[in-house]
Amino acid sequence: MSIEIRPYQPFDLPGMYRVCLQTGDSGRDATALYSDPDLLGHVFAGPYPVADPGLTFIAADEHGVLGYVVATADSAAHEKWLEKEWYPPLRLRYPQSMAHDPGDGTRDWQRVAQVHQPGPSAGDALYDRFPAHLHIDILPRGQGAGLGRRLITVLLEALRERGVRGLQLSVGGGNPGARAFYLAIGFTEAERQERFSVMVRDLRTAEPDRG
Ligand SMILES: CC(C)(COP(=O)(O)OP(=O)(O)OC[C@H]1O[C@@H](n2cnc3c(N)ncnc32)[C@H](O)[C@@H]1OP(=O)(O)O)[C@@H](O)C(=O)NCCC(=O)NCCS
Repeated sequence: MSIEIRPYQPFDLPGMYRVCLQTGDSGRDATALYSDPDLLGHVFAGPYPVADPGLTFIAADEHGVLGYVVATADSAAHEKWLEKEWYPPLRLRYPQSMAHDPGDGTRDWQRVAQVHQPGPSAGDALYDRFPAHLHIDILPRGQGAGLGRRLITVLLEALRERGVRGLQLSVGGGNPGARAFYLAIGFTEAERQERFSVMVRDLRTAEPDRG
């Protein structure tokens, strides 16, 4: 079976959570870093298709979910939705008392802290021009074969159909390969710090997706 890119279906969620965990350490497998295998997915994967299933796209083969792109068209509205719908039950499931470092190298506590005190999902200064944001993750066996480009291309089409002005994302300083990927597919770097870069893409121009 060849790899297909298709719209998200609810049955994709477990597979998406697995991909999120297996790419969750600056692109590398984070399985050993989490006692709870769901925590990363709760923060970075699950809320997007639940809030707006039309902006999640899946790369799948005969083994299941190989990769995904998730997005929101409006980061500020998404933050409000998270506060109202997504975080309250999660805060009961993962109480604040779990947000302390047990000192064993696991990172569950950092994600629990994030559930209780989420930072802004998109930079304020860039929000007006680039209100959308995304996350993309592909398992190693699917990387380097053009799937990332294909996933982003279908997402950009969906965002343009909705009249969204622009898209931004943050890429960690420990993931230079991802930064190179975004530059290769036509994003520009709006901000660069040691810990992260903010990449942006204007969706109003008629500029074709490179490649
Ligand atoms: C980053 C990621 C989404 C890229 O997807 P991909 O399918 O491997 O990338 P593609 O094959 O579509 O590559 C598209 C372009 O990006 C370039 N590129 C991709 N990964 C690259 C890397 N690690 N270093 C340099 N260039 C890279 C390719 O050379 C290609 O350029 P070209 O068309 O000019 O030849 C994927 O590798 C991934 O999911 N990695 C793990 C999770 C992760 O890091 N997510 C991003 C967090 S911000």
